[in-house]
Amino acid sequence: MKCVDDFRLQLGKHELVPIVIGGMGVDISTAQLALEAARLGGVGHISDAMVPTVTDRRFNTKFVKNKLAQYKFNVENPDKSVVRFDLGMLEEATRLHVGNTMQQKQGSGLVFINCMEKLTMNAPKETLRVRMRAALDAGIDGITLAAGLHLGSFSLIEDHPRFRDVKLGIIVSSLRALQLFLKKNSRCGRMPDYVVVEGPLAGGHLGFGMDWAQYDLASIFTEIRDWLRAEQLDIPLIPAGGIFTGSDAAGFLEAGAGAVQVATRFTVARECGLPEKVQQEYFKSSEEDIEVNQLSPTGYPMRMIKHCPAIGDSIRPNCEAYGYLLDAKGGCSYIDAYHKAHAENPGQRRVPVWEKTCLCTHMRNFDCWTCGHYAYRLKDTTHLRGDGSYQLLSAEHVFLDYQHSKDNKIALPRREECLMAG
Ligand SMILES: Cc1cc2nc3c(=O)[nH]c(=O)nc-3n(C[C@H](O)[C@H](O)[C@H](O)COP(=O)(O)O)c2cc1C
Repeated sequence: MKCVDDFRLQLGKHELVPIVIGGMGVDISTAQLALEAARLGGVGHISDAMVPTVTDRRFNTKFVKNKLAQYKFNVENPDKSVVRFDLGMLEEATRLHVGNTMQQKQGSGLVFINCMEKLTMNAPKETLRVRMRAALDAGIDGITLAAGLHLGSFSLIEDHPRFRDVKLGIIVSSLRALQLFLKKNSRCGRMPDYVVVEGPLAGGHLGFGMDWAQYDLASIFTEIRDWLRAEQLDIPLIPAGGIFTGSDAAGFLEAGAGAVQVATRFTVARECGLPEKVQQEYFKSSEEDIEVNQLSPTGYPMRMIKHCPAIGDSIRPNCEAYGYLLDAKGGCSYIDAYHKAHAENPGQRRVPVWEKTCLCTHMRNFDCWTCGHYAYRLKDTTHLRGDGSYQLLSAEHVFLDYQHSKDNKIALPRREECLMAG
């Protein structure tokens, strides 16, 4: 039986271990995590979700404070159309985040950035253009277009000097979405360098409706693979969503995948951005604790642990500070849900909002515990400590386990007591 290490992903001149750690927004897939993947010869992702917020935390900038001060007058107003991002600030934050990451890169692997179209930021085109161009300026190896159809995204950077040398990829969940993307972008005279096909068991937002359970990754992967072959398009296809063991991954590679994209197993790595308290919740979760719901204001279903603090909270919309999900007219369905809940409960100060969640605030605070379907299996990847908590893993351990394991086995880490004893 083969293992992942029997395969390589060829991306231009780069020969890579075919393991991609997927982007996990708002600094869950940290620079440290992405850099480990690159050091080990694979591909890691940072994310550009809420990047000014992330740089404030990492580099002591004051982007959020300044934005809030500028728009404080508007906090009670349900109309957020005046709340705009300063594009110079957005550029600076992206350059800081990306530049700092790339400076630290070691090894033969690559670091990409996950760019979500659904972060519409009250000026979808302008803000996406700045985010992508600043990432290119700061030396990112690749951009993965996520959470959206991205029909116009290539054209936002086609005149950038790095447009042809940077690796560009797109995440799709159906052949139709890929066909649409390729058709719309054919004008730019450039194909994507890779295509991630994300199935319904992934973490984060899903490219499916609430009927997600009727779909499966293997079938969508096969359909897209066969179509690419028929069209003689030699683009590496990278399945994602529910690939939990090295054997799951090797199975896809044997079926013609260029690499696999994985994320959930890395949520419990020390290099991951989630606080340890939250990582323990991931470990402890059972299958019944994980649900796909419609609480995200993006309109996409999202998978999360159902007792996370983001659900049924009563927080006032925080768009003056954040506002990453404001659409082109300054609207967000959380704002509507918040005011509706208050109208139905007149006179009450704190009214829980069950219809939607304030995703910006809760992702920022690591209170929205999004995860892949198999998060409930994380407990099987480590040791239970004497105090009832679980031992965290190193990203290297998880990566090497994907790379070398066979027979559906998962290698457990060395016990902490042994590590401490040297
Ligand atoms: C905590 C978490 C956050 C995620 N955030 C994003 C994101 O911001 N953008 C994105 O495109 N995908 C996101 N994903 C999806 C992953 O990048 C990846 O494609 C998918 O989860 C792989 O499936 P797996 O988690 O079963 O391995 C997220 C996944 C997790 C677990």
